[in-house]
Order: sequence, then structure tokens, then C-alpha cells
Amino acid sequence: MKKEDIQAEKIAGNKVVVVLDILLATTSIVSALDNGALQVIPVIDAGEGVRISQQFAAGHFLLAGELDAKPLEGFIYPNPLELNKEIKGKTLILSTTNGTIALRKSNTAGIVYISSLLNNFFVAQTILKEDAEQTIVIVCSGNAGEVSLEDFYGAGHFVSCLLEQQISVCLKLSDAALSALSLYRGWQGDAAHALQSSMVGRLLYQHGHEVLSFAADTGSVHMAPTLINGVITNTSGV
Ligand code: MLT
Repeated sequence: MKKEDIQAEKIAGNKVVVVLDILLATTSIVSALDNGALQVIPVIDAGEGVRISQQFAAGHFLLAGELDAKPLEGFIYPNPLELNKEIKGKTLILSTTNGTIALRKSNTAGIVYISSLLNNFFVAQTILKEDAEQTIVIVCSGNAGEVSLEDFYGAGHFVSCLLEQQISVCLKLSDAALSALSLYRGWQGDAAHALQSSMVGRLLYQHGHEVLSFAADTGSVHMAPTLINGVITNTSGV
């Protein structure tokens, strides 16, 4: 997604929105909160990140970001395995090519959940508990406006999590949701292989498989972070 599209593409309010950027923005956000980050502020670009960071005392925040897979000057590269080592008790200010832009576009919707393979199950459970009748929009961040396999796989996994938990609710799935579900089922639970096969996954794999295995660690986080007034916190986890 491009930042200039933000005004045109904002999501209409009064829907529950679930944002996915499996490689890696939403995985990084969920995992940062799970590792003790106080909050995460998704920003549009480096300039906004620097401006926001000036509101925090040194040592109380981490400024992380990339653009088109290249590190932003003065920012830490947003590799969750590295970020998690120093995130405890701090605010993460994060700028990424697609994921944080998708989050900012979603900010006008009713409730925005940040999800990933790590916490899809918990987010699905939380949404069904809150109000099983509502319309759920799954936003796949994609890559430069294109569909990305890992996010579509993540969307299918999320739909599967909803189906697993429905007790008295009859879910009405759109064709897009059914397509994502079919794709997810086709991989027969082999998340690591699915991620590794994607375009972004193949690029990441050149630097080692650790981060892909990390993003594929399905169900490892019991947390449903939400984006409220531009800030992501864990409002409903354990
Ligand atoms: C993106 O937003 O394009 C990616 O998620 C960047 C990343 O976090 O690796």
C-alpha cells in the first residue's frame, strides 16, 4: 500500500477490522507487546516517526523502520527477533512499507485488531465473544498494492479460527474469505512452508529461516491488541 492512497482507501467505520501483515509488521507488533512493549505507534514514514519520538524521553522508546526492505536512517531494522531483546517497558514507534500504512488506513473503522499467525486464534475468539453478529473485515496488507501469499494464507487461517470456535453463530463467508480458507487448507497446516514459498518469504529466507519460523509459530500468543487513536495496546489479552 502507498501512503498517498490513504485518504481514498480508508475503511468505513462501524466494522470490526482485523489487519494482517504476516511478514512482518503485525507479527512484530504482536510479539513486541507479548515481550513487554508498553504500546506500539504505527507511523506513515520516517519524518512522522522522528516527530513522535521527540515526545518520549531517551531510553523509553525504540524507533524501528524500513522502506522497501531497506533500513531507514537512524532507525533500528524491524526484525522482531532483535527488537524483542530490548523492547520491555518501552514504546515501539514503527514505520514499515506496507503494514503500518494498512494500519493507519484502518484507523477510521470501529474496532481494529492487530493479528498474525501467532494470535489469530485469540483475536477470533475475542471478536466472537464481544459480538458474534458483527461484520468482520480482514485487511491483508499485501505488497505494494499486490496480493501477498503470506497475508492471504493468514486470512484463511483467521477464517479457520472463526469456524473452529463458532458455537451457535452461523458465519456468512464472502467469496474472498472462502478463497483464503481454501488456500490455507491446501497447505495442510504447514505454515512455515507456506511463508517460505511467498515472494517476501523467499527474500527473508536468504538471511536465514529463523524469522520465518518465528512468524509461523501459530497460536503462540494469547493477546488481541487493538489500535485506538493511533496507538496499539493489548486491551484484551492475558
Ligand atoms: C511491510 O510493512 O512491508 C513489512 O511488514 C515490513 C516488515 O516489517 O518487515
